[in-house]
Amino acid sequence: HDIETASDADPQLTSALLGITRGSVPLHSSFHNEPDTDPSLPANRAWGRRILARADASTLGTDTIEAATVPDEAVLGTIIDAALTAGAAWGQKTGAERAVVLHRAGLALAANRDRLIEVMASECGKTIAEGDAEVSEAVDFAHYYAERSKDLDRVQGAIFVPSKLIVVTPPWNFPTAIPAGGVLAALASGAGVIIKPATVARRTGAVVVEALWEAGIPRELLALVNLPHRDLGAKLIAHPAVNRVILTGGYETAELFRSFRHDLPLLAETSGKNAIIVTPSADFDLAAADVVKSAFGHAGQKCSAASLVILVGSVAKSQRFLGQLVDAATSIRIGPASDPVTQMGPIMSPADGKLLHALTTLGAEEQWLVEPKQLDETGKLWSPGIRTGVAPGSYFHLTEFFGPVLGVMHARNLEEAIRFQNAVDFGLTTGLHSLDADELALWVDSIEAGNLYVNRGITGAIVQRQPFGGWKRSAVGAGTKAGGPNYLFGLGSWVNEPGRN
Ligand code: ALA
Repeated sequence: HDIETASDADPQLTSALLGITRGSVPLHSSFHNEPDTDPSLPANRAWGRRILARADASTLGTDTIEAATVPDEAVLGTIIDAALTAGAAWGQKTGAERAVVLHRAGLALAANRDRLIEVMASECGKTIAEGDAEVSEAVDFAHYYAERSKDLDRVQGAIFVPSKLIVVTPPWNFPTAIPAGGVLAALASGAGVIIKPATVARRTGAVVVEALWEAGIPRELLALVNLPHRDLGAKLIAHPAVNRVILTGGYETAELFRSFRHDLPLLAETSGKNAIIVTPSADFDLAAADVVKSAFGHAGQKCSAASLVILVGSVAKSQRFLGQLVDAATSIRIGPASDPVTQMGPIMSPADGKLLHALTTLGAEEQWLVEPKQLDETGKLWSPGIRTGVAPGSYFHLTEFFGPVLGVMHARNLEEAIRFQNAVDFGLTTGLHSLDADELALWVDSIEAGNLYVNRGITGAIVQRQPFGGWKRSAVGAGTKAGGPNYLFGLGSWVNEPGRN
């Protein structure tokens, strides 16, 4: 595991301070994280209001995505051939040469911050704070993978052979950062890329790609496709020229892709059912705020979101903790993303299926601590829900819902709390709120998840500092973490360097 902490400090130092000696992430002095826009400055707030005033009528990306619509298999074949040819030439360049282009891509994404925030608010209901952080993450991916592409030139005794063609299929919930991350990693590794944005976030995907084309990345090397017919998607995934697919999406989607082609080299970051454990030693004020932010940020529609909070021992009866939790959840300002004061926007599509069930139905021993309410006719605007009494092994305990609903579980001790988290099929993010070093050591040694966060929220991994990826059913295929030092290594193949042992 990587050890994640609330601190911004050097993880090695932090780990040493915590008495933990394994799992730290190397930091590279040539890379610096892009800062988010500071909303405390009046000029930035005015800038944000101007962006959001355009959101409701925004048409950004429309022309580009229409032009990228693929009508039939023959046209798809032409695009694949062109990307293959461009990818083969691109893969001949050194990592250092590719890095120049990727750094330009980072500058172009940063220069398009306002357009990206506008299209995300318009198309996906992303608040300005969530959208702004996503743009920073996309910029980070560009500069970070630029530097990591140089690593591929330096490996002793082995030669990295790029894939010629990588397909990137991102989700709709991070419609800027995740497409940008996949595409930039693939380009940094020396491959040609075809990106198919999520259908409901395709205009945002188009604006991301526009920025990358603007940076000088050729349109054949980075091809944008909009596939209106589902069978064209299957044709693309199953095409023998495709060397790898980078998927971020549900576990079922990964299974679907495998059904198109059983030997598909897939790097998939999939679902999560993530818990934060709060022990009696925790700072309750911090814990309540972090739980609420992790559960209801972007209306809970993050694979990294907290879906469960597991209260250990006396915390279950702590009016201080539960009161803070209720206060924090009920004071969230809910509304359209185009309103600058909105903290939680709509869910992407009207609640249905599992999510509607979770918003409207209680299990046998459950009660609403905060009952969710549908706030408008669309079925998309909901207030947050918190249910208590979630029983081990129950439907809510084990099922991912992807929306603004949190379940509270009680555990007798930390060991039991860890068992509750580990009982789920997934292992993506997880958190501990505790100020006790022994509890921390026990939890680190036995919790099953890719990203571990201590005394911090469990969403919003930071490139380089908190490489992102899960295990169990949260990852399918090679499990290197996005935004981490090894990610590019999994995107090509390796051969021994001639003449060396
Ligand atoms: N990388 C995203 C997060 O950490 C999913 O929240």
